[in-house]
Amino acid sequence: MDYFEVIKERHSIRAYENRPIEADSLQRILEAANRAPSAGNLQAYEVYIVADEDCKRALVKAAGDQEFLAQASVALVFCAHAARSKVRYGSRGADLYCVQDATIACTFAMLAATALGLSTVWVGAFDEEAVRQIIRAPESQRPIAMLPIGYPAEVPRITRRRDLSDLVHQT
Ligand SMILES: Cc1cc2nc3c(=O)[nH]c(=O)nc-3n(C[C@H](O)[C@H](O)[C@H](O)COP(=O)(O)O)c2cc1C
Repeated sequence: MDYFEVIKERHSIRAYENRPIEADSLQRILEAANRAPSAGNLQAYEVYIVADEDCKRALVKAAGDQEFLAQASVALVFCAHAARSKVRYGSRGADLYCVQDATIACTFAMLAATALGLSTVWVGAFDEEAVRQIIRAPESQRPIAMLPIGYPAEVPRITRRRDLSDLVHQT
């Protein structure tokens, strides 16, 4: 798939087959995330792989019963690591850049998964503290986004977007 096809083919999927994804696919997804740009190339984020069934069930609870988190083969949790960015950028690094770093990395992972024929959905609605404890991340890290990855077990709902004329502003 070329880039524009990937963008077009990516849709949120909230039901997954009970089938593991290949180790090579996961590796390629992680390598894609690692190619993401970051402020000062500091990569102020950490990625946690959740494949254990009990941990995935705990994520479901922490995310307000979003059951598909347990169905997915794995869930990646992207955490902002403020201290890594604060060293160089102070409060802008700690409050903003580390969150952007984690977000861009998650986006790269999401698009890589699509390119590999896998499905995902961005999960942002969760109890941050509960997720941090489930993945055993230190208090200095803030869970920003979760990304379940698996083979789809539903047809995606095609969502609409705002018109470009509404979204884009010529100054
Ligand atoms: C920051 C953010 C948080 C989101 N949180 C959730 C979530 O907690 N649960 C969920 O099912 N979808 C979540 N989504 C997915 C959106 O609902 C979805 O991307 C949007 O409806 C557009 O649909 P599409 O991804 O199929 O294009 C989130 C997306 C973003 C970018």
